[in-house]
This record gives sequence, structure tokens and C-alpha cells, in this order.
Amino acid sequence: MASLRTLTVVRTAGSLARNLSRSASTKASSANSARSRAALLAGSAAAGLTGYGIYKSLSRTTQDDIAATVQAVVPSNTLAAASPPKSQDSVWSPGKDHAVYLWIHLKPEANLKEVAKVCSKLPKMVDTVVDPTMKDEDDEILAGVGFGPNFYAQVAGKTKKSFVYPHRKGALGDMPSSGGDVFIHAKSNQVSKLFELSQLFLRSLPKDSVQSSEDIYSFVYQNGRDLSGFIDGTENRADDEGRQEVAVEKETGGSYVITQKWIHDLNLINTEKPKNLEAWVGRERGDSTEISRKSITSHVARMTGGNGFQQPKPVEIVRQSMPFGSVSGEAGLFFIGYAADPYNFEFMLDRMVGAGGDRHSDDVMRLSKNVKGTYWYFPGEQELAKLA
Ligand code: HEM
Repeated sequence: MASLRTLTVVRTAGSLARNLSRSASTKASSANSARSRAALLAGSAAAGLTGYGIYKSLSRTTQDDIAATVQAVVPSNTLAAASPPKSQDSVWSPGKDHAVYLWIHLKPEANLKEVAKVCSKLPKMVDTVVDPTMKDEDDEILAGVGFGPNFYAQVAGKTKKSFVYPHRKGALGDMPSSGGDVFIHAKSNQVSKLFELSQLFLRSLPKDSVQSSEDIYSFVYQNGRDLSGFIDGTENRADDEGRQEVAVEKETGGSYVITQKWIHDLNLINTEKPKNLEAWVGRERGDSTEISRKSITSHVARMTGGNGFQQPKPVEIVRQSMPFGSVSGEAGLFFIGYAADPYNFEFMLDRMVGAGGDRHSDDVMRLSKNVKGTYWYFPGEQELAKLA
């Protein structure tokens, strides 16, 4: 057990880090709660800072600087003895201008241990693409790798919680279960760096091990809006502590992840009455104001468990979804959410497809079609290193 002195030193180090972090970024501290975010949303002038954009706070480079300062004043063995397992860089860090979502299915004959070894080198690959001594907020990459349940069970054993994604059928559409073995989520302001990382990763995998892969490059649209025009991310936790609390399993540093590819019906979005769209979502499109008397079938009511105004949330997830696609082809939302417990996804998905007990489906499914989805486990940093 950690001694009292150790704990005191660690707490002091923690508060030093927090104080440094506060002075390093007023933007971060101003975005410290979902409520202050809601206040910022009032008025269209603030709209440019909302949604996705607002949780772009302290860069990982700045966080590394803080960590280095803390390490300089606290003996490293003291910190190592008491610090909780760390999560991978993608899990609760702020958003960037672009993300890549790389979804890989392996061939049945692939050597899983060899694949896992390559995956454990992801942090090194990130350093190959962006020189760690040169990187700044603009070209740093925040990346993480996750695994499907079968793959992870075979290379590392059981996770604390099981995560199985069933095919869901709903009155407003299905949610197919697509499976998958390895998934990379990486964020950067430079889309070319993400392309480079995907290419390096795929080329590093053992020859002939990939059955199929899809890499989707996403972008921030209108300062943080979904392609439907609604601000996305309003009720996401904005502060680092809150995001960790929601996304990270304390004992392991691991995180459970949902990914879903949604193709929007842009024709319907452009022609439907704005009032109807707002009723489907449960928020106003301009500034994300919550509709006080909303339908039980609105997206917000489905996700929060009821249609009360500012309904207390029974469960939460950290959403990092972003728009993707092309005008002449398909476009939509790549939905990705992190949670310390996969039950949180189950609660939400069941309530979207009419399996949440009250049989209602989610009206957001009127404007988009889910074409692909599954769950992953993003092991903690130490768990990942063990796969080497
Ligand atoms: C086409 C797919 C989707 C679209 C366009 C969409 C869009 C939105 C929008 C506009 C909001 C309101 C603003 C906000 O708080 O971010 C929202 C809220 C939310 N969405 Fe989605 N969403 C989609 C799918 C999903 C899925 C699949 C989940 C869960 C697995 C989900 C979970 C949530 C949650 C938890 C909230 C916050 C509710 C609250 O606390 O008020 N969304 N979404």
C-alpha cells in the first residue's frame, strides 16, 4: 500500500500539474463544465466556439511539458509507485481538426500474436510520423488502438467487463453488427499526418494478415456541427477529470469503445422543416438550446432516459464523433464514444431501437442510416505495452 508520504507527494504533484495546467490555458479552465458550456452556447456569437471546438483545450504537448516539470520535482519512483494505470492518448484527450478511424478485419489465418506486437508499437509509429522533439499542437497526433473481443481474448485474455455487440433491429432502421479485429483512432490538425500513420500501420502488419480495412478521414464542420447542422458535443464533459472519470476503467486504464458509421440523408435534412428536425433531436439547431417540452422519441430524451428538461443522466460516455464523406458520394457521422463500462452503450443503443423497455425508437434515425458498428477495448498503456 502507498505510504501517507507517498500519497501526499503525489497529491502535491497532482495539484502542481493542475495549477500549471490552469495557468497554461485559460481556454481549458473556462470550458471546465458542461454547464458553463451550456452558458456559452447562448447567443449565436458564441456558436463558433461551441460543440466539438470547445473541448479543444490543452494540447498534449503542453501536458507533456507539465508531466516533465512534475517529474523534475518529484522522484520518479515515487510517482510510478502510486500513479493509476494510464489510458492511451486518444481516449479522453481533446479533439483536433481531423481524425482517422481505421477499421481492420484480419484473415482467419493471421498470426494474432504478431499482429498484437505491431499494435503495441503504435506510440513509436506516432513518433516516426511526427518527431516528438519537434512536434507542436498543430501537428501532434493523439492515437490509440483497440481490439475486438475475440482478438483481445486470444492475445491478452479476459477484459474486466465483457463487450459483445449484437445486431439490433428497430422500427426506424437496423444497427448491423460488423465485427472487426483492430481499430485505430488518431487525431491531428494535419490530415496528411493521419494518412501517413494509417499507411505506416497497415504496412507494418505481418504480410497477408489483413482481410479488409477501411480508413475514414473526418473533419470539423462549421466549428463543431454535425452535417445536419446541429452542434454536436454540447453535453459532452469538457474537463479532463470528468472525461477520464467517464471514459477510463480505473483498475486498468482501459476503455470500452463504440464505433458506428452513419450515412446521413442530406436531401431530407435540406428539405425537412427545421422545427421537425429540432423536435427529432430535442435541441434547437442554431445554438443547441434544449427544447423544454420535448418528445420522448427525441434523441436527447432517448439518450438521457426521459424527456424531462435537463433530465439527470443515468449513464454517460465521452463522444468524439466527427463528420466525414463527400458531396457526390456518401457523407455522415462517424460515431465514436468511450466509456469505463460498455453497459452505458447498451443503455443508449437499446433506447434508440425500441428495446429500452418503452418500445420507443430514436427520431435521429429518421435523418441517418447506420451501416456499420461494433465495440472495442482500448487497453491501458501498460496493458498495450505487454503485447510487445
Ligand atoms: C446519426 C447519428 C447521431 C447524430 C446525428 C447525433 C447527434 C446528436 C446531437 C445533435 C446531440 C445534441 C447535442 C449534444 O449534446 O451533443 C446529441 C446528443 C447526444 N448523443 Fe447523439 N447523435 C447520433 C448518434 C448517437 C449514438 C449512436 C449515441 C450513443 C450510442 C449518441 C449519444 C448521445 C448522447 C449521450 C448525447 C447527449 C444527451 C444529453 O445528455 O443531453 N448519439 N447527439
